[in-house]
Amino acid sequence: MTLPIYAYGHPILRQKTEEIDTNYPDLKSLVDKMWETMYNANGVGLAAPQIGLALRLFVVDASPFAADPELSEEEQQQIKQFKHVFINPSIKVFQGDQVDFNEGCLSIPDIRGEVTREDGILISYYDLDFKYHELELTGLASRVVQHEYDHIEGKLFTDKLSPFKRKILKSKLLQIEKGNITVDYPMEFPSKQKNKL
Ligand code: CO
Repeated sequence: MTLPIYAYGHPILRQKTEEIDTNYPDLKSLVDKMWETMYNANGVGLAAPQIGLALRLFVVDASPFAADPELSEEEQQQIKQFKHVFINPSIKVFQGDQVDFNEGCLSIPDIRGEVTREDGILISYYDLDFKYHELELTGLASRVVQHEYDHIEGKLFTDKLSPFKRKILKSKLLQIEKGNITVDYPMEFPSKQKNKL
């Protein structure tokens, strides 16, 4: 089942998120719906606030980046297999060089922008079996995970753009808030009207 993706301007995207406990009902089926919603929109990551839930949960499948010809063969192999469910994640360390990358977001259709982030992170999280993990990431995997992690912290990539770029995008963002955009996946807009397909 595909769920509507909450658009820029919706308060849920800024709300404080709660940790998930082991008794959370039907977590597996919720995560299945998130995968389906993400793939339907051709995304590489999706966080719970984007489907209207203030939870510390996101999913990432960075495998589409494996087609990037600029990656080494080793990086391509790594990114091809990078598919994880992150429950109650916590980024412990940000490290390495500052790197620029052109980001987009399923909640902010048709807008992209250069975002500077640290190349590396150390993140802890639980998987669907509530097994604890720690992962050290760099490159694109780190990039996608940091973007999704921002979502559960109530932050959006547009917050990190230069003031000049934000000024340029202001009216476009307003149109998204109003639902005055055409998107090929279902969305929920702050004005409460649903995008009819
Ligand atoms: Co996003």
